[in-house]
Amino acid sequence: MVSKTIMCPNCKNQITIEGSPGERKIITCPKCNTRGGFSFPGEGAISKVVSGSSAIEIHGLTKTYNGLKAVDNLSFNVRKGEIFGFLGPNGAGKTTAIKALLGLIHADTGVMKIDGHNMRDESIEAKKKLGYLPERANFYKNLTPVQTLDFFCELKGENKSVILPLLKEVGLEDAINKKVGNFSKGMVQLLGVAQTMIGKPSIYILDEPMGGLDARWVKSIREKIKMLNKQGATVILSSHILSEVQNLCDRVAIINKGKLIAEDTVSNLNKYLNIKPRLEITVKGLDGKVPSIINELKGVEAANAKGNTLLITCESPIRVKVISALEDAGFVIENIITIEPSLEDAFVKLVEGDT
Ligand SMILES: Nc1ncnc2c1ncn2[C@@H]1O[C@H](COP(=O)(O)OP(=O)(O)O)[C@@H](O)[C@H]1O
Ligand SMILES: [Mg+2]
Repeated sequence: MVSKTIMCPNCKNQITIEGSPGERKIITCPKCNTRGGFSFPGEGAISKVVSGSSAIEIHGLTKTYNGLKAVDNLSFNVRKGEIFGFLGPNGAGKTTAIKALLGLIHADTGVMKIDGHNMRDESIEAKKKLGYLPERANFYKNLTPVQTLDFFCELKGENKSVILPLLKEVGLEDAINKKVGNFSKGMVQLLGVAQTMIGKPSIYILDEPMGGLDARWVKSIREKIKMLNKQGATVILSSHILSEVQNLCDRVAIINKGKLIAEDTVSNLNKYLNIKPRLEITVKGLDGKVPSIINELKGVEAANAKGNTLLITCESPIRVKVISALEDAGFVIENIITIEPSLEDAFVKLVEGDT
């Protein structure tokens, strides 16, 4: 059991709550009845704070635009060596938080550290270890990728011999003589990734690196992120499309309306949100009706029929019973698929619980 004192965002009343690592609690303030959610960090998150091996630490970050809290008392840590997903719907505050972390905009409050360096007074040290890909990477249209990286090498004081190997590494070797203005969006993003790699950073901050790209380019960017991580780098990437990052990230933080609503591993999120796998069964002649034997079967939590497809939510051991019950009742099963819970499901549940 972990005990935590939190402050009601409405009336500032202090509330002490108890829970297990990884547990999410919905709390009603006893003073003003404001309802909200709090997620206890998972086991790993707690040991991480103790070990102090964070690549990025954000404590109490708030940024207000014209009275609107774009980021509201945000705190989370990114461990060294992990791929960390920073997730939330459009307008949740991801870009604002990243820019405030990097000191590109002024935060109202908050302590931000990169590799242990406080961004308030040691930002030059911190930035030496950093590769940053802004949300909409923009390059001079009249330059070739070589000329573009030449410019960034000068800015970063790096040897220009890295340019061609870098372009090759991101898969742009066939485009070295093309003007960037003629690049596809995916190629521009890959050039952006190459730009971040100048100086061999140990920490990458990529703001929506797959934003607006088609599947082929998403795959390329994912592979590059995996490669950087394999070489030892910590990667934090933001996204509003959860399926893009689901199998890529070690852990995720989810924000909504500027507030952190969860920070955990993908599998823990699914576990404490109690999202179960679904069974999709194609039954000959079902015709949109859920058979009564399924509705009566103990352990079936939800059953829906669409055409000849039966969608069942139940724990794993019940699946066999569902199939036997259908067969015993004379139904002909044509296909069975298990749909594992997705981060998308977790995300929808979390964001809905937060409103
Ligand atoms: N420069 C700005 N001036 C005023 N409001 C802003 C500015 N930048 C962002 N916002 C607002 O802050 C909120 C968070 O935006 P943003 O950080 O871009 O979200 P995300 O990156 O998650 O899509 C939004 O409501 C957005 O309209
Ligand atoms: Mg953004």
